[in-house]
Amino acid sequence: MENEAKKKIMLSGIQPSGDLHLGNYLGAVKNWGARADEFDCYYFMADLHTLTVRQNPAELRRRSLEQLAQYIACGLDPEKNTLFIQSHVHEHAELGWILNCYTMFGELSRMTQFKDKSAKNADNINGGLFTYPSLMAADILLYQADYVPVGEDQRQHCELTRDIAVRFNNIYGDVFKVPEAYIPKAGARVMGLGNPTAKMSKSDPNGCVFLMEKPEDIARKFKRAITDSDTERCVRFDPENKPGVSNLMNIYAAVTGKTLDEIEREFDGAGYGAFKPAVGDAVIETLRPIREEAQRLLADKAYLQQVYTEGAQKASFIARKTLRKVYKKVGLVEKPF
Ligand code: TRP
Repeated sequence: MENEAKKKIMLSGIQPSGDLHLGNYLGAVKNWGARADEFDCYYFMADLHTLTVRQNPAELRRRSLEQLAQYIACGLDPEKNTLFIQSHVHEHAELGWILNCYTMFGELSRMTQFKDKSAKNADNINGGLFTYPSLMAADILLYQADYVPVGEDQRQHCELTRDIAVRFNNIYGDVFKVPEAYIPKAGARVMGLGNPTAKMSKSDPNGCVFLMEKPEDIARKFKRAITDSDTERCVRFDPENKPGVSNLMNIYAAVTGKTLDEIEREFDGAGYGAFKPAVGDAVIETLRPIREEAQRLLADKAYLQQVYTEGAQKASFIARKTLRKVYKKVGLVEKPF
């Protein structure tokens, strides 16, 4: 218990806006699982954030539960990690409101994700999309998190979270821990199989391998993966000139544990025709136990409910303390019950 209290706090969330894919797994969730002994870890489904873009309600509900099952199947042990659904911990929305009042219009206007999503959803540029970063700051600051493992695309939101925390602390004293983004090196980034210069994303389903996908579909996607139009056609790591092959090598390295040198030697003289299906097979074998375990968990609704109930209770216990302090600092009358 003594030790427990001293662990640094790590927190992250993924929006259940699409099914989890290989990029989410290799770039994020796989590494999260490995950190449970070193850090006090909180991982959640950011369902409130997902509402900033119009959703099909039944699909959102399905994906939120499926994401929880997948987190566990990917190795996030609910005994060692606090796993919860964001909307179950009402402190997020409440602190989100308060932090809105400490986040500037100009700051929110500069967020690249806001600009991108506004361009993509021109008919639904709602207030939630604009103030998304204040809610994300609340997610993080409620738990006094030290580290926030995210992709490069979330760096700007993490920086803004720091600015908000510092601004608040300057007015009211030490209320929030100022968190740090924890961004994996470029090698851990999985690019799309159809376009190796863009991050793997559900918006290009043919270039994206989902965790729950059937082996034959995964095999097909790898066979059709874009390789490079250079003349040498050999398996060599060169992200500049051979982004397609280099991405496949990164994926193969991540799922087999082999080094890039070993991979070059393994496929020396073999050409892309042999390499692509080999990567596909390695990915299929990595994902098979995850998919089967997730399916087993999804069939056990009572267990999943127990996990997210206990997760929300633990999360809320911590979040409540921060929120109470904030309410007091800003001048709200203490709630008598
Ligand atoms: N904005 C993140 C994304 O789109 C998801 C997210 C919401 C998040 N709240 C968070 C990530 C808090 C880390 C911490 O990927």
